[in-house]
Amino acid sequence: MITLAPSILAADFTRLGEQVHDTVLEGIRYLHIDVMDGMFVPSISFGFPVIETLRPFTDQIFDVHLMICEPLRFISRFAKAGADHITVHFEACGNPAETLLAIRENGCGVGLSINPSTPVDVVFPYLELVDLVLIMTVEPGFGGQEFLDFTVDKIRTLRNYCRDHGLHTVIETDGGLKADNLHVVMEAGCDRIVCGSAVFHGDIRGNVRSLRREITRFEEAHQS
Ligand code: DX5
Ligand code: ZN
Repeated sequence: MITLAPSILAADFTRLGEQVHDTVLEGIRYLHIDVMDGMFVPSISFGFPVIETLRPFTDQIFDVHLMICEPLRFISRFAKAGADHITVHFEACGNPAETLLAIRENGCGVGLSINPSTPVDVVFPYLELVDLVLIMTVEPGFGGQEFLDFTVDKIRTLRNYCRDHGLHTVIETDGGLKADNLHVVMEAGCDRIVCGSAVFHGDIRGNVRSLRREITRFEEAHQS
């Protein structure tokens, strides 16, 4: 089953609780939380206070995407703040294996992400350590960008690799995804789709329903 993970980066922060609640009302289980440090990416988003504030407000699964340099420094703090899954960037880690193990030791689901220009085979040696691979389909750092078509081959390659090696790694895609291009990443084999502006800009509940309709349509057409 393919799941939708709304990214709160695109929310109206003056009404964050209310907007997250709209996703709860639509039965959304995963909330994608983008943390940026102004070093790994050119922008700064938010950090612990936002996660801590949201934590008692919802029992959704917090899928925290760390776009920060040397995330190992902060794994235990994000876990304490309320992260359920923590995804770090391969490019940001001096020692990816040590970082992934630290996420596991802190009781969180483990994710490894790669930028559009990073070849997908860099993640192969780490697949036994992770639950999820996040393939960025835009350059990390900003919401509302155009989907990069050339990233699709990496999703397909990873899906085939996992199948050939008996791995059940979740493949997540993030960036530039909306109702009219979801089928591209679903056909390539992704399991979880992050959408920021396609969920939070405009009618949130209506947007979730439209995106879900696309997912259901795809799944029904591909039932074997
Ligand atoms: C980009 C973030 C994405 C972003 C997606 O660095 O990782 O999660 O919020 O936003 P949209 O869906 O608007 O491209
Ligand atoms: Zn993200």
